[in-house]
Amino acid sequence: MLLKIFALGVIVSSTFVHGAPTRTSPERRQDGDNPPFRGSTALVGYNPTNTLTNEDTDDIEFEFAPGQTADANIGQYLNFEDIENPQPIRGSRGGTDPGPQTPEYSRLNPDKLAPPGTDHGQTINAQWPMGLSHVKAGIDRAGWSRQENTQVMPDAKAMAGVDMRLEPGAYRELHWHVAGEWALMLNGTVRIAAINEEGESFIDDVSKGDVWFFPPGVPHSIQALDGGAEFMLVFDDGDFSEDNTFLITEIMAHHPREVLAKDLSVDISAFQDIPAGELFIFPGTPAPHNISEQNVTSSTGPITPRDSYSFHWSEQPAHRVEGGSIKIVDPVTFPIASNFAAALVTVHPGAMREIHWHPASDEWTFFLSGKGRATLFTPPRTATTFDYLPGDVGYFPQSNSHYIENVGDEDLVFLEVLQADRFSDISLGQWLGLTPPQVVIDTLNLSPETVSKFPKEKPFIVQG
Ligand SMILES: *[C@@H]1O[C@H](CO)[C@@H](O)[C@H](O)[C@H]1NC(C)=O
Ligand SMILES: *[C@@H]1O[C@H](CO)[C@@H](O)[C@H](O)[C@H]1NC(C)=O
Ligand SMILES: *[C@@H]1O[C@H](CO)[C@@H](O)[C@H](O)[C@H]1NC(C)=O
Repeated sequence: MLLKIFALGVIVSSTFVHGAPTRTSPERRQDGDNPPFRGSTALVGYNPTNTLTNEDTDDIEFEFAPGQTADANIGQYLNFEDIENPQPIRGSRGGTDPGPQTPEYSRLNPDKLAPPGTDHGQTINAQWPMGLSHVKAGIDRAGWSRQENTQVMPDAKAMAGVDMRLEPGAYRELHWHVAGEWALMLNGTVRIAAINEEGESFIDDVSKGDVWFFPPGVPHSIQALDGGAEFMLVFDDGDFSEDNTFLITEIMAHHPREVLAKDLSVDISAFQDIPAGELFIFPGTPAPHNISEQNVTSSTGPITPRDSYSFHWSEQPAHRVEGGSIKIVDPVTFPIASNFAAALVTVHPGAMREIHWHPASDEWTFFLSGKGRATLFTPPRTATTFDYLPGDVGYFPQSNSHYIENVGDEDLVFLEVLQADRFSDISLGQWLGLTPPQVVIDTLNLSPETVSKFPKEKPFIVQG
């Protein structure tokens, strides 16, 4: 039920003046008399002739979202989507906002405008919408990229993300970097190729839902096949920037031609048309459908399956749990990505990824679809609730607890990425369920009956 509150009074906007005489205010100058940039020094401080407006700032029209007037500590999700003028009020807390304001922000982030009463203090900023990242545009409409790193999330130090689009046939220029690169295909298909220290070569085609990993320093190529592609790259360094990779064009452009000729055993004239600088993302000759035509090997042959840089995660069925499903890829099954452990989580409407934490690593999260919210708790008593939408990055520091609740009416799908050799977490519910009950009863002032309901098996997702 929506509770509508209307202004009782009429907006009073009269001007009243204390005493006399009045001093000339800029508005009262004659037409054509353009005031100087600065006013008079007589404007400093109290003066009985000061003019004050008598606006009634409580005269604003607004309505409450369902649940907004309930006790603030209940903290249910507030849906402001159809609310004309959302206000920073929760239960008995807060007050109206006469403006200026942009209600679209409040509709996207209701827990920022009207936080649960249980939020307290200031945690790190654990959210970055890729929609606020500056796009780096490729050549000839071949694609683009946009990134999240410590420039925009200063405390997300362990990992950074790059969202990249390649139109059909387009290349991400040949390169390598100091960081390791883990990637999830979001759409379409790309052909990737690389070599390792042994001169073993790697080539594969990966599609939506598949994963690749290129270790630090391993040079690679990426080309979109017929349908084009989009993918999310995750780097094991929060300071990573796409502007700072070792590009083949720049390497060639910044070596003496005589050295290039000697190094590659060709005539110096071969290099007269090489690009003067980066291509980054640019159109290419469509790759042949038959991948074997692009298979180039040395005497050491192709990369062994154990060291391969791709994992066809799309072909792994998800493990079903009550309220959703989870699938994990980590070094147990994808050994070359020795420091990347990831889970793809689907949470059905009304359900929630339970309150948990990751003892081994910070968590870098990417939201693929649906609407979610999470509260990050950091000791001793800071807690912030964030609202997440598709294309948002989340970040939860090592061992800091959090949950992710589906607050929409479709499935919530997100990726959790850890810097760890195994995907692992600890469940608050399971911990309380496996602690001697009397300890929990004495500590939290709960009834034995309540404590007996706590889970002994890790739920991962709770139905709600
Ligand atoms: C992928 O591309 C198709 C069009 O081919 C589109 O319908 C779909 O929404 C895209 N995104 C995802 C996440 O699948
Ligand atoms: C590439 O060639 C090697 C033989 O040198 C072969 O073992 C490997 O399967 C080929 N890979 C592809 C994708 O054709
Ligand atoms: C694919 O290319 C390889 C290498 O050129 C060739 O041996 C093979 O017959 C081709 N396969 C098909 C189906 O055309």
